[in-house]
Amino acid sequence: MSRFSERSAIVTGAAAGIGRATAQLLAAEGAAVAVFDIAEAGAQETAQAIEASGGRAFVRVCDISDPGSVRESVAAAREALGPLSVLCNVAGLQQWTRIEDTSYELWSRILGINLTGTYLMSQAALPHLVETRGAIVNVASSAGLRGIAYSVPYCASKGGIVMLTQSMSKELSDRGVRVNAVAPGGTLTGMMGLPMPEQASPEVMKSFPKSNLPPAEPEQIASVIAFLASEEASNVNGTVLPVDGGMIA
Ligand SMILES: NC(=O)c1ccc[n+]([C@@H]2O[C@H](COP(=O)([O-])OP(=O)(O)OC[C@H]3O[C@@H](n4cnc5c(N)ncnc54)[C@H](O)[C@@H]3O)[C@@H](O)[C@H]2O)c1
Repeated sequence: MSRFSERSAIVTGAAAGIGRATAQLLAAEGAAVAVFDIAEAGAQETAQAIEASGGRAFVRVCDISDPGSVRESVAAAREALGPLSVLCNVAGLQQWTRIEDTSYELWSRILGINLTGTYLMSQAALPHLVETRGAIVNVASSAGLRGIAYSVPYCASKGGIVMLTQSMSKELSDRGVRVNAVAPGGTLTGMMGLPMPEQASPEVMKSFPKSNLPPAEPEQIASVIAFLASEEASNVNGTVLPVDGGMIA
């Protein structure tokens, strides 16, 4: 038996990187997958790859920071794929920025996608997940467990995801919905090559935590997300699992 056969999953941020790897893995293990992203072309590519391997995918252009888009998209996924058992909140945004240069707009955008988007998606999917006694897996970051320079909005948003995960796991435990998170370290996606601020201090840069292992492939994060979403993790709830090569150990 595949771990996700006869189950449906929503994966946000599924047009690229960790989200794409997660959507493909869940589909390969039997899930019908709703591929959510703002980037339509990438989302279509993910769905084509899933279908080419014999899986089932439903593409939906969804801006997770927009309550209306989230509400309509979750309803459309339920309509297309039937009862929803898994929500993987993977979509996210990072931009390295000095606190002096962090505009209110940038702060709001990063918080709006990373933290508010996770809340909106979880709230909209909740009635469906209660129905199936399903699972939510959020993507936090090592930057949500330790402060990292030039990342104030990102660290704040990911730290918020840690608490959102723990709080929701307590609140939903009597309704059979598990809520966990992964906290990746450096992972080889488009997010890794983003430019540092021009005035970044070399001294401050030395304070960045380092892993003794090479950066992860997106598939190495996806496999832990799939584990937490699966019945193998049926007694795992409210945990935030670092997948960072030991960076924060
Ligand atoms: N790559 C890393 O080193 C790393 C480390 C720790 C945590 N993470 C987290 O992993 C997650 C996935 O990132 P990734 O590395 O795969 O980066 P990525 O940039 O490859 O993928 C992010 C995806 O999110 C989508 N997205 C952005 N805003 C959106 C919105 N408003 N609505 C819907 N989709 C939106 C993008 O279009 C993109 O497809 C993010 O939450 C990120 O913060 C990444």
